[in-house]
Amino acid sequence: MSSEMSAYVIEEFGDPDVFERTTVDVPEPGPDEIRVEVVASSVNPVDYKIRQGAIPDFAPDFPARLHCDVAGVVDAVGDEVDAFDEGDEVYGMPGGAGRQGALADYVVGHAGTFARAPESLPLADAAALPVVALTAWEMLADKTTVDDGDDVIVYGASGGVGHIGVQIADHFDTAVTATGSSEEKRELAERLGADATVDYTATDVEEYVAEHAGGTGFDVVFDPIGDDHLETAFEAVRPYGSVVTTESSAAQDVDLAPMHENSLELGVVLVILPVLLGDRQERIGEELAEIADLVDDGAVEPHIDDRYSFDEVAEAHRRAETGDFLGKLLLVNE
Ligand SMILES: NC(=O)c1ccc[n+]([C@@H]2O[C@H](COP(=O)([O-])OP(=O)(O)OC[C@H]3O[C@@H](n4cnc5c(N)ncnc54)[C@H](OP(=O)(O)O)[C@@H]3O)[C@@H](O)[C@H]2O)c1
Repeated sequence: MSSEMSAYVIEEFGDPDVFERTTVDVPEPGPDEIRVEVVASSVNPVDYKIRQGAIPDFAPDFPARLHCDVAGVVDAVGDEVDAFDEGDEVYGMPGGAGRQGALADYVVGHAGTFARAPESLPLADAAALPVVALTAWEMLADKTTVDDGDDVIVYGASGGVGHIGVQIADHFDTAVTATGSSEEKRELAERLGADATVDYTATDVEEYVAEHAGGTGFDVVFDPIGDDHLETAFEAVRPYGSVVTTESSAAQDVDLAPMHENSLELGVVLVILPVLLGDRQERIGEELAEIADLVDDGAVEPHIDDRYSFDEVAEAHRRAETGDFLGKLLLVNE
């Protein structure tokens, strides 16, 4: 094997054209790490937010290899790793924030940030899952509890996190109401298991609460928009209900009084935290193993709107930033 590999890096924050193809040393795994030959990655908002410089504390050191999601084949195993062998097909979230990521021929990460890839998907497609499926899983299975028959509203139901949220909420036998700004987006949510859909751009919260949540509010509000949108979430939830979100870092102006008035539960996920802290990384692999079972049982599947080669990463970022896609955009290491 060559000691060098191809990688796409950024040397500074900027627009999508800031990516450069270059050659760097193949990284060596530490004792508790594995090295994975990268088959595919995918685009998440965290990747373009890092590239833009919007969350500089999350950026890997320059020249920075971005992208958190990966699917590939284990190529080298650290001395202390028992869970994987060379040749295993895995998916994971080893870096891309806090440490070097997946936009290269090889990525190295803590063994705990990987699990065996679902057997029922082509390996490349598994790269659409880690960030969004871990997030949706933590929102519904860690930050709150959902019971059979609960009324759950999933905002952003055709987006990365939301389209998995619809499927997990449906798997938990809840009554799922899904939002989407276009007919195409609402149709996808229905195909994935939503019982009802709402065009939130044309319907008041009061109206859809009356129609789909008995007038009192949803038991669980799944809000991967967050920040100012939490005010909408607090309007949509019932007394004693739960709001789970991914974003509260720009929520300075959000009035928290409704949480007290209605005795609400609020859960906030930061899925990449184990990687940023270098702590509790096994939690990622354990959850990914559960998600692989859900995929193999037919409960969850990623919807891949489009595929780009690593060479086309700038184009994929531009598309992701428009929001004009369904589910996920995949990046394939051709
Ligand atoms: N904290 C974490 O651990 C974590 C993890 C993953 C993602 N995130 C964050 O969560 C957010 C969503 O991620 P994603 O991967 O799902 O992004 P995405 O694939 O771009 O999807 C975002 C979705 O939000 C919907 N949306 C936007 N504004 C809305 C509004 N005002 N009301 C209702 N829906 C709205 C859009 O659909 P419509 O056309 O229907 O509006 C779109 O489907 C991003 O900000 C991301 O950074 C955080």
